[in-house]
Order: sequence, then C-alpha cells, then structure tokens
Amino acid sequence: MLSLKRYPTNNPKIHRSNSTLSTAKTGIFTPMSYRGNIDHWEGFAKTDALWSILTDPDKKDGKWDIQDFFKTGETEIDAVFDMLKGENLLPSDNASALDFGCGVGRLSRALSGRFTSIIGVDASPTMIEMANELNNDIGHISFHLNQTNDLRLIQDENISFIYSAIVLQHIPPAASYNFIDEFCRILKRGGTLVFQVPVADLRRLNMFQLIRTKLKLRERLTRIGIGKKYHMDMNVYDDKRIKNIVNQNRCQVVDVKFTNHTDKAFNGAIRFIKLEEATDFVSALYIVKKT
Ligand SMILES: C[S@@+](CC[C@H](N)C(=O)[O-])C[C@H]1O[C@@H](n2cnc3c(N)ncnc32)[C@H](O)[C@@H]1O
Repeated sequence: MLSLKRYPTNNPKIHRSNSTLSTAKTGIFTPMSYRGNIDHWEGFAKTDALWSILTDPDKKDGKWDIQDFFKTGETEIDAVFDMLKGENLLPSDNASALDFGCGVGRLSRALSGRFTSIIGVDASPTMIEMANELNNDIGHISFHLNQTNDLRLIQDENISFIYSAIVLQHIPPAASYNFIDEFCRILKRGGTLVFQVPVADLRRLNMFQLIRTKLKLRERLTRIGIGKKYHMDMNVYDDKRIKNIVNQNRCQVVDVKFTNHTDKAFNGAIRFIKLEEATDFVSALYIVKKT
C-alpha cells in the first residue's frame, strides 16, 4: 500500500499504482520473470532481509547489527557525494532524492541529511514495512511499494537526485532498461542520476560450469536456510543501449566509474576501481545529468 501520511505537501507528486506484470513460471536455470523476481525478493525479505541486501557471509542468519548495517549506507553515500562534488556533478538543488530498490532504507536514511525529501521505492512489501519501522525517527523519508515495471507513481522532472545501487543487477533486463528510461523522465533539469549495473561477466563459464555454479549457489543458500525457494539473478547490461536510452531523454551520461559493488565483501565500502581490478563482474556506476 502506498502511504502518503508522512509525506509533506511540497514534495514530489506520488501517484498510486496497483497493476503488476503477468506472472510466469520461474526456474533455477532460466531467467526469472518480472513477477517471479519480486516474489523471490519478498522471500528473502521475510527470511533474512539485511543479509539478502549485504551478503557478507559472517552476517547471515540475522547477524547484521542494525547500526553497523546503516553505517554502511552512510559510508557509501559519503563516498558518492565526495566523488560528485570533486567532479562538479552535484544536483543543482537539494529538494528531493529517490532511492530506487531501497530495501530497508540503508541508502535512503543516509540521504536524509542531504535532501529535504527522500522517497524510497521497493517491490517487496516486507522490505517496505521494515524500512518504515526502522526509519520512523526521520520525518522526511517516505517508502513506497511499487510492483510495476515503471515509475508512474512519480511525475515528470520531479526529483533532484536519483540513486540506485545493487538493484538493477537483480531485475530482469527488459524492466531495468525501462527503469533507466523512467529515471531520466522523472529527473529534474539540473538534477543528477547515479545508478549501478554490471556491464560484463568475466567468469566466462561454459554450460557445465554454469550449472555447477548455480547448483553450488543453491546448495549454499539452502544450507543457510534461505534458498530452498529463493535465488538472486545477476544480469549484465549493454553500455550502448543504456547511453541510447539516456540520450533519447535529453539527458547525458557525463561519467561512468567502475566500482566494487559486485564484490562479495562490498558491504557499502564503495571503491572506484580501474577496469583491470574487476573480478567476476565489471560493475559500472553511470552518472547522468539533465540540463
Ligand atoms: C540487494 S537489495 C539492495 C537494497 C538497497 N539498494 C541497498 O543497497 O541497501 C535489492 C533490492 O531491490 C529490490 N527490488 C527487486 N526487484 C525490484 C523491482 N522490480 N523494483 C523495485 N525494487 C526491487 C529488492 O526487494 C531489494 O530490496
């Protein structure tokens, strides 16, 4: 349910949206459907939400301390803003921020000292419920459930800063490309959009290795009691297609940084790395401006 009750009147307009995409069969060896993927995230959220967001092996089975968990968000957002400031790419006002795929609000909370109004959007009802509970000490954040593959709940050119990290990589690509289009639509002129996606899979697995890897992941998740039914897809995106979408929206990709977001030990300790340092996946942080 969309809740507008803590939402100040001068904030970006939020529209209610009920529709979802059609359901389809999901399977461990086939890409998940959009609806299937949401169901898996809801399963993760109900089972071990914090660990499903930051999958540090030492923190599984509810071992994340919530203060430490939220501290990782501050570390990440501080580093991103230092980088943006250094490159003169900060948004031109601090009215509003969107944290897309907000989970329990790790990054939304960290944005709260920098913006007048913060919107967190997620497709998992349990993530949204937890985000509301864990951040009820901050009046200017609101969390919204959105299970459509668009952001029709937000009006055009309404948001000063958009951030999305470790989210699009888990969403079926057709929907993610649509979300990138939507980010550009809702970005204000003078605003800054920053989103992370993997752009290459360096593992170069053959079919046999791929099946073994998927089985191993399934075994690992099952051992910790989380994965009898749930799994995370990792999707890779096409740089040219992203840039076309951005350009068609009269926005510009002004920089692309390689990051450690896809590392197992990421834990919010973002590093801007050289391409040669990437392992497993090449993770890219796109920085987009609308003028
Ligand atoms: C790895 S977590 C990252 C959470 C948050 N960005 C952070 O870094 O703390 C991925 C999040 O994406 C959400 N998600 C998955 N599919 C989504 C979709 N189609 N729309 C919005 N959120 C989605 C999941 O529910 C989950 O909260």
